[in-house]
Amino acid sequence: MKFKVIMIALILGSSFIFSQKMKEDALNKKVDELLSKMTLEEKIGQMTQVDLDAIKKTPKDIAKYAIGSLLCGGDTESPDISAQGWADTYMKYQNIALKSRLGIPIIWGIDAVHGHNNVDGATIFPHNVGLGATRNPVLVEKIAAVTAAEIRGTGIQWDFAPCVAVARNERWGRTYESYGEDPELVKKLGAAYVRGMQTKDLSGETAVLASVKHFMGDGGTTNGKDQGNTEVDEATLRKIHMPGYVEAIKAGAKNIMISYNSWNGAKMHGHKYLMTDVLKGELGFKGFVVSDWAAIDQLDKDYKTAIGISINAGMDMAMIPNGVDKPNNYVQFITFLKELVNEGKVPMSRIDDAAGRILKVKLEMNLWENYGVNKKLTEAVGSPEHREVARDAVRQSLVLLKNDNNTLPLSKELKRIHVTGKSSDDIGNQCGGWTIIWQSKSGNVIKGGTTILQAIKNTVSSGTAVTTSTDGSGAGGADVCIVVVGETPYAEMFGDREDLSLAKEDVAAIEKAKASGVPVVVILLSGRPMLIENELKNSNAFVAAWLPGTEGQGVADVLFGDFKPTGKLPHSWPKSMKQIPINVGDANYDPLFPFGFGLTY
Ligand code: BGC
Repeated sequence: MKFKVIMIALILGSSFIFSQKMKEDALNKKVDELLSKMTLEEKIGQMTQVDLDAIKKTPKDIAKYAIGSLLCGGDTESPDISAQGWADTYMKYQNIALKSRLGIPIIWGIDAVHGHNNVDGATIFPHNVGLGATRNPVLVEKIAAVTAAEIRGTGIQWDFAPCVAVARNERWGRTYESYGEDPELVKKLGAAYVRGMQTKDLSGETAVLASVKHFMGDGGTTNGKDQGNTEVDEATLRKIHMPGYVEAIKAGAKNIMISYNSWNGAKMHGHKYLMTDVLKGELGFKGFVVSDWAAIDQLDKDYKTAIGISINAGMDMAMIPNGVDKPNNYVQFITFLKELVNEGKVPMSRIDDAAGRILKVKLEMNLWENYGVNKKLTEAVGSPEHREVARDAVRQSLVLLKNDNNTLPLSKELKRIHVTGKSSDDIGNQCGGWTIIWQSKSGNVIKGGTTILQAIKNTVSSGTAVTTSTDGSGAGGADVCIVVVGETPYAEMFGDREDLSLAKEDVAAIEKAKASGVPVVVILLSGRPMLIENELKNSNAFVAAWLPGTEGQGVADVLFGDFKPTGKLPHSWPKSMKQIPINVGDANYDPLFPFGFGLTY
């Protein structure tokens, strides 16, 4: 019996391997066939990714140069940012691409980093730091699948996510894009995101190509400087910053974005050892790598030289905006790369390898047939079902740091609840950066969603009065005062900080609430741990809610005890700036709260 089972397993296993091999061979054959029909210009066209703003005045160039990919960077958008508007924009440009000589479809990339965040009315999920607190890969896979469905609802097929940075210094403005300071946590959640985003079958209608970013060491720069220098030895680089990529590749990742940062002074965009020998060689990565936004330009003052360095180091696709000093940068890229090949400075084999890798992914995605937009998916962007997943994520992401005398959960039957603080009724502050606008902003930045104040009102009994202010005043006589404070939106280097104290107005609001003599519950909205020792003293309960996104109802679900808090800190919580960087496993580890801390009730 046992023998029979083993035999059947062996036969099934080897026939699976055999059919995978057949599929792979067939794909490679198709790639070779395509390459054999292509001119050098067309191959270079495939290696070119142009920002929509850079090509919208010259759209015919997409067909003329057989451009392989478009993107919309942080501040580039469709003229109409509704889901239908984005879908129309996508189709308009895809139809131009299909008119090129060989009719190779474009693949379109976008930063959907916490939901499809460039679309008005989309579901906005907690930023990755909050997902790190959930510790829940099943949830993250679901979030990625919902996000993928919303992305496909706008025609787009490529998401510049997940960010598998391991943020080691909270000064870094991109800390919230990281799942946390621990490589184990990052690798689990990053791989789950890839699985959810790409689904079981990359050629499926709701599958989106994930871009695992930014390779490598972005979260480890000295002083947490964005685009800075990661000064660690190779063993540390591999131990802290590489596991996210190893696991993502195992999960089927077919695209990786290279990082702006340097490793011990050498820029990643020109790093042949890491890009070619380690990533493509040792780790066996079979997909293609893409540059970050105009990042190749940083390699040398002379653009042509910079292109040569990067392509020879293993770069497959260049992400090209319209540089202020370089109008029509994409034409320059194509011209210079062609010259470099003709001068023998970039081997033809490198061009075939790069274009071949890109075409293979396009074939795996079946873009030739599967490039249209399914109206049902467009209509489902921001649907109640999708928002329910986000609301659940918010519940699971909250970390309870303090709860004296069981201040929480609150009763829904209290006579009066006072809600205050500048972020209590602010969807923009809830969502943080990368929401509609690259840097985003406070206030009504996106349609739909529920602020924390609205959520509290939705939750309490009809007999409960909810009074409000924004500066902490007016709490006297209430049963409890809820103060919602924290960071205002930022993205990338604009969020680098030397001081992580709360803003003066936040400190004052908490002090005022405390002075009123009623129990104080503080909810902190932030992309990272902040300095809160005094504010902890001035509160009875304290919740780290990260950047929860549009579904503030998830916060009320926990405050009023419909769900218990389960979130665990994805970062060690520092006492002072002097203590940062502080990470689990450090010698003399003495944080305010350790990595993994989280109370419950
Ligand atoms: C960021 C990337 C992003 C790209 C495209 C860059 O500035 O570093 O994370 O994917 O822009 O918007």
